[in-house]
Amino acid sequence: LDICGDFIILNSKNLNKIINIDTNNATMTVESGVILQDVQEYAKQHSLLFALSLGSEGSCHIGGNIASNAGGMNVLRYGNCREQILGLEIVTPQGEIIDFMRSLRKDNTGFDIKQLYIGSEGTLGFITKAVLKLHPLPKSAASALVGLIAADKMIIFFNHAREYFADKISLCEFMPEIAIKTVLSYKPSMQYPLNHITPWAIWIKIEDTYDGDDYLHEELVNFLSDMLEKDIICDAVLAQSEAQEKTFVQFREMIVWAQSILGHVIKNDIAIKINDIPNFLYKAEKKLNILCSGIKLYPFGHLGDGNIHFNLSKPNNMEDDIFKAQDDILCHQIQKLVHQMNGSVSAEHGIGRDKTDALIRYKSANNIALMKNMKHMFDRKNIFNPGVIFNNTDTQNNMMLPHNNCEHA
Ligand code: LAC
Ligand code: ZN
Repeated sequence: LDICGDFIILNSKNLNKIINIDTNNATMTVESGVILQDVQEYAKQHSLLFALSLGSEGSCHIGGNIASNAGGMNVLRYGNCREQILGLEIVTPQGEIIDFMRSLRKDNTGFDIKQLYIGSEGTLGFITKAVLKLHPLPKSAASALVGLIAADKMIIFFNHAREYFADKISLCEFMPEIAIKTVLSYKPSMQYPLNHITPWAIWIKIEDTYDGDDYLHEELVNFLSDMLEKDIICDAVLAQSEAQEKTFVQFREMIVWAQSILGHVIKNDIAIKINDIPNFLYKAEKKLNILCSGIKLYPFGHLGDGNIHFNLSKPNNMEDDIFKAQDDILCHQIQKLVHQMNGSVSAEHGIGRDKTDALIRYKSANNIALMKNMKHMFDRKNIFNPGVIFNNTDTQNNMMLPHNNCEHA
C-alpha cells in the first residue's frame, strides 16, 4: 500500500501465489499478483495451456489482465481474457470480500456478476484471486508469412484460411508495408523473410494438440499453394524452425517500438467487422489526408479479430508539437468512421482516462446510464479508480437511470 498525494495505490505484487492446479478439471487457482508468464509456465509444466498471451507477459499481473479483459494474439482461437476466467475473489470498495471462486464451466444461478469485474478497469472492485480455465497444450504448429497486394485480398485469404483450418488457426496478424520498412530502417541487420516487401503481410499460425508438425506443414503448404494459384497472395514463406518463426514475431512486435522513434504516435485501437476492414482503411486514409496531408498510417494488428491498431505518425518535416495538437481531431475522425461502420472505438485496450469522452460520444445513453448506475451501486463514494471509464465529474452525484426505469428519478 502506498500513499501518494491524494491517492492510495494498491500494489498486488505480494499476492503472488499459485494456489493450485487441477489437471483433471483443467483449472488453476492463483492470486492476482502472479505474473502472466509464471501462470503460462506452471500450466505448461502440467502439460496444459493458459491461453492468454501478450507482449508484456513477462511483467504484467494476471489481476490486471482480468481487470482490463486483455486480448492479444491468441484471441482468435481462445477468446479474450474473459473467456479464460471461471472464478474470482473480489474486495469491494466497502472492504467486503466476495467469493465467486467456482471452478465450473456451467453455473446458471442468476446473474453472472463476476463478469462485471472482468474489464471493469479496477473501477468496481479489487481482484484478489482467480480460477483460470486451461486448455490442452498444442503439440504441433506451422507458421507462415504471406505477402499480399491489396487489403481486400487479406480478407479473402483469412476467410479461406478459416474455412480450411477452422479453430486450428491460433493467430492471423497483419502488417502494412510501411511498418515493415520502418522496422528495417531501425534494425537493418534483420532479414525480411519474404522475397519482396509487399503492400500487406500476414503472419498466420496453425496449431494442433497432437504430435504432427509434418502433417500441419503439409496442410499449410497445400493451402498456401492454392492461395498462390488463385492469385489471392503473391508470396509466402513457411517457418522451417522456431528461430525463423521468431523473425515473424519480431517484425510484428517491433512495429510499436520502431514507429515511436519517428516521434509522437497517435494511437487508436479499434474493432470493426472483418469484411469491413478494406472499406474502413480506404475511407480513413482519405479523411485523414484531407485533415493532415502526408500523414503516415500504420494499421496493423489482429486481422482475425477485426482489431486494428490504427496508429498514426506525422508527415515528413512536421514538428512533433504541431502533430500532437491534432491528436483529438484525428482520433475523432477515426472514431466517427468506426461508429458509422458499427465498430468499437476500443477493441482491447479499454477506456482508461483517455477515452472517457469517446465513450460518452459513441455508447448509447441507455447503456451509459446502466453503467453509471452499476458504478454507483458498487462504489458509492467513487473511490476505486476515479476518473477511469467515466470522467470524475460524471460519476460524482450524477447518477442516471435508464429511460425505461425513470418513474422515480
Ligand atoms: C499489440 C498491442 C498494441 O497488439 O495491443 O501489439
Ligand atoms: Zn493488440
